Amino acid sequence: MLVDSYERVVDYLRVSVTERCNFRCQYCMPEKPFSWVPKENLLSFEELFEFMKIAIDEGVKKIRITGGEPLLRADLDKFISMIYTYEPSIDLAMTTNAYLLKGTAQKLKDAGLKRINVSIDTLKPEVAQQIAQKDVLKNVLQGVQEALKVGLKVKANMVPMKGVNADEIIDVLEYCKKYEISIRFIEYMENSFASKEVKGLKSDELLKLLREKYEFSDDGFDGSSPSHYFTMKDGYRFGIIEPYKDDFCKQCNRIRLTAEGNLIPCLYFDEAMSISKSIKAGDIKAATEVLREVVRTKPEKNRWGGDDAEVSSRAFYETGG
Ligand code: 5AD
Ligand code: SF4
Repeated sequence: MLVDSYERVVDYLRVSVTERCNFRCQYCMPEKPFSWVPKENLLSFEELFEFMKIAIDEGVKKIRITGGEPLLRADLDKFISMIYTYEPSIDLAMTTNAYLLKGTAQKLKDAGLKRINVSIDTLKPEVAQQIAQKDVLKNVLQGVQEALKVGLKVKANMVPMKGVNADEIIDVLEYCKKYEISIRFIEYMENSFASKEVKGLKSDELLKLLREKYEFSDDGFDGSSPSHYFTMKDGYRFGIIEPYKDDFCKQCNRIRLTAEGNLIPCLYFDEAMSISKSIKAGDIKAATEVLREVVRTKPEKNRWGGDDAEVSSRAFYETGG
């Protein structure tokens, strides 16, 4: 079992398979980075899988594939299938912008994928164009529908932004409710790569807007997710992710691996240790040591909240959020 120095059990690994993305979301990657990680520096699926096996053997129970946009990496279903075959009980999920899901959802499901998280920031084509800087909405919604059809569990993320999509929180919630998709509203996390114009809605503002329309109870946290949950009268549950709140990091159970093999203990900080050399050399012992060390050095909390609130210099497209 992997336990950090604040007694948090780390059993959730997020693995980014590429930092590349076909969207240019304002809150994440508004401009193409100066350079991408050279292809030869990416770990192959076989190499990534070597590390997945170590992580599973050390106690990881949940693996989420992220990007950038993970579906830009060819043959992703083969990677999923490798993990699934090694340990079918792994909670195997993926975060995707859904643009390429149409036509691939079935293959991913058959390979062993159980769940996906998609961004549904708006239901208006022109707002989607404004956020992602590309005409994406039709493909995204078709992708979501196909995922539901093939039996993948779907959760949606919405980042409400003032003057952009904040007036759509009810519409997006209703869309999700209709299709039994669980929605999580995410407070915009300031980072130095995002567009300077983005102004996120804080959870108090969001709750005020939702209360004007609905009655709901506060369920608190359920332990396995960073989301604060609420249940509406008809039983529909939605979540809010509040990284600015002081106790947000208390139950953090995750670490992140980038596509070039940097293991990151916290989304906020730049600190990382590479597993690339040991994995490429087939040195399982050394890679295991790096994993244990990263868990040991996991910081207590991020610095988004509190009086000394800061902007993170870690790119979300490198870590998949
Ligand atoms: N703040 C909050 N959420 C973000 N995401 C990406 N960048 C940010 C940010 N700066 C979330 C999006 C997307 C997921 C990959 O990460 O909701 O769905
Ligand atoms: Fe791409 Fe996701 Fe970042 Fe948008 S949030 S640019 S879809 S990685």
